Amino acid sequence: MPTITDAQRWYPADDPVHGWDHILRVYHLVEHLARAEHADLEIVHAAALLHDVQDEHPSQPGRSESRATHHMSSASFARHWLEAEGWTAERITAVEHCIRAHRFRDQRESPQTIEAQVLFDADKLDAIGAIGIARAVAHAASHGQPIYAEPSEAFLNSGNPEPGEPHSAYHEYMFKLRKIKDRLYTPTGRLYADERHRFMVEYFIRLQSELAGLA
Ligand SMILES: [Fe+2]
Ligand SMILES: [Fe+2]
Repeated sequence: MPTITDAQRWYPADDPVHGWDHILRVYHLVEHLARAEHADLEIVHAAALLHDVQDEHPSQPGRSESRATHHMSSASFARHWLEAEGWTAERITAVEHCIRAHRFRDQRESPQTIEAQVLFDADKLDAIGAIGIARAVAHAASHGQPIYAEPSEAFLNSGNPEPGEPHSAYHEYMFKLRKIKDRLYTPTGRLYADERHRFMVEYFIRLQSELAGLA
């Protein structure tokens, strides 16, 4: 089992979106969800610590080939790490499945086990609510994008921006974040998501009112 100290070395402290803080929050969330959903704690803990290990980070350019495949490369990293620790093939496969199935934008491998569903839900809960808003704003700012811009019809339908269209934090909310609560798998994850979703929707309504000078 990788320890917290092992994992802390794999992630940067200065990435507010996919850095160490995110991993630690997901680690604690999987623990709550796993206890409520009777999932295997060791599997979900290992999966939480390893799930973004090959992700890109602004301070570590060129760290992985692409964000789009980080779930696959992180699963391979996990296999090698757990093999070296002497885990059984069956339990390594279980962790790998959790990691390969955690990416929202890649639905080719959906979470089939309760452990994979717990990791998926925990990772997505960290993308909504108060922390989700903070991460969306931080992501936009670190990519030179605005907090708010009105999304085009084309973007809302396809997720592809028109030429010159920014990808604001509000774009991320409209295309992904507001849909997350309906994509969660476990009853406990959905329960947590309800309050986080309500708060996030209220925030973006309020943001629009303030930007329009109405509040
Ligand atoms: Fe990820
Ligand atoms: Fe993640």
